[in-house]
Amino acid sequence: MVIDVIHGPNLNMLGRREPDIYGTTTLADIDRELMKLGTSLGADVETFQSNSEGEIVGRIQEAYGRVSGVIINPAAYTHTSVAIRDALSMLSCPIVEIHLSNIHKREPFRHHSYVSGVADGIIAGFGARGYRMALEAVMEIIRE
Ligand code: DQA
Repeated sequence: MVIDVIHGPNLNMLGRREPDIYGTTTLADIDRELMKLGTSLGADVETFQSNSEGEIVGRIQEAYGRVSGVIINPAAYTHTSVAIRDALSMLSCPIVEIHLSNIHKREPFRHHSYVSGVADGIIAGFGARGYRMALEAVMEIIRE
């Protein structure tokens, strides 16, 4: 069982990027933890990060029919990308949208997500630990 974890733009800078908002955990730390947790939950966790909208759309298309669940932090594309939303709409597997910060507590332009309408659930505001919560949630949905 494969779970695809997709990270959007600037998340490769985690650890150094606005640590007061996003914390000091790096993306490599997050990916390592998810792979370890995946193994203990019986899933093969694959991870992908891109700063490019088209590459993220391509990765979602590759997930079609291949993966059992998707966890996605579209980062800034959350608030702008109809293309990412449309790509996610094609999938029939569970989708969890995640944000490190609570986007609803921040600037108004972050309050709207194009992705939420096609996600099964949203996790926001719990920092890096939210990824663990997302993986546990996606596995529970799959096993239901
Ligand atoms: C983010 C929130 C977005 O508004 C922002 O553009 C990001 C990260 C988060 O994880 O909190 O890049 O998705």
